Amino acid sequence: MSLTFSLNDGTEIPWLGFGTGTALYNKDSTEAVKAAIQTGITHLDGAQLYRNEESLGQGIKDSGVPRGKLYVTTKLEETPSAPTIKATLEISLKKLGLDYVDLFLIHSPFVATKEGKLKSWWKEMEEIKKEGLAKSIGVSNFTVEHLQIILEDATVVPAVNQIELHPYIWDTGSKIYDFCKEKGIVIESYGGLSPIVRAPGGTLDPVLANAAERLAKESGTAVSSGQVLSKWLIQKGVVVVTTSSKVSRIKEALSTASLPDLSADEISAIETEGLKVHKRFFMKHVFNE
Ligand SMILES: NC(=O)c1ccc[n+]([C@@H]2O[C@H](COP(=O)([O-])OP(=O)(O)OC[C@H]3O[C@@H](n4cnc5c(N)ncnc54)[C@H](OP(=O)(O)O)[C@@H]3O)[C@@H](O)[C@H]2O)c1
Repeated sequence: MSLTFSLNDGTEIPWLGFGTGTALYNKDSTEAVKAAIQTGITHLDGAQLYRNEESLGQGIKDSGVPRGKLYVTTKLEETPSAPTIKATLEISLKKLGLDYVDLFLIHSPFVATKEGKLKSWWKEMEEIKKEGLAKSIGVSNFTVEHLQIILEDATVVPAVNQIELHPYIWDTGSKIYDFCKEKGIVIESYGGLSPIVRAPGGTLDPVLANAAERLAKESGTAVSSGQVLSKWLIQKGVVVVTTSSKVSRIKEALSTASLPDLSADEISAIETEGLKVHKRFFMKHVFNE
């Protein structure tokens, strides 16, 4: 099922992105990217920080799928590696072997905020979009306060904000989610499987298992707790960025969009359990939590 979400600039983003950070950080991602695309992934999430843009580009090439059918993201490093943001993107494009990216994100507001450059960085991002080097521009790991600063002068509202999002971070995450929704900014989630991968054994586990069992009965297929977590995000209109070394898990992830919906009671139970704890696994230096 090729579900997409509409961005505020008129483009569409595939709901599921395959990430080349975390497990593939600083590693050759060629084979993983090729396998993901050949399994049906169309959205690839890269970054300058991941130190593997060449292999992301190679995986795209080796997949045999035309570039126009794919959605490619890269992100500006926390400390830019060239004098201008455009110059850093040009280096990325060369590494990726592409003429443009579909989405270019400011990876983190940390250094820009410290140096008082948040607004000027966003102006440079707007120029990049104007020149067509990135079809869409957005941010990552921005709090409401960071967004408010750039929105004061922005002529282009960020298309997305990519943040860690799962039920165990819903207490603070929901505030960013609500603000972005009001401003027409789509949330992309990463670390969405954290409750089962990084914090198993929590009180959310039985809630996810119950929902998975109900969905399995209704759909007549096996359903995992990970799919319930992704389904929760999809029903909120949130893009899911995940990764896996296993083709079986990529297939499972892709099939999530066509599962029956979670009920309002199931969603409420997930959020109630999630709100009982606060667990952040990434970017702690930005969020101070
Ligand atoms: N913007 C940012 O600051 C930022 C930060 C972090 C990540 N990201 C992006 O998001 C992508 C995904 O991040 P993530 O790795 O945190 O995603 P995730 O969806 O939370 O976790 C994916 C990882 O969980 C493992 N996994 C999946 N199902 C599992 C299960 N049932 N039991 C045990 N392990 C399981 C996978 O390993 P297997 O290989 O075994 O399937 C994979 O390594 C990154 O690659 C990157 O592109 C962005």
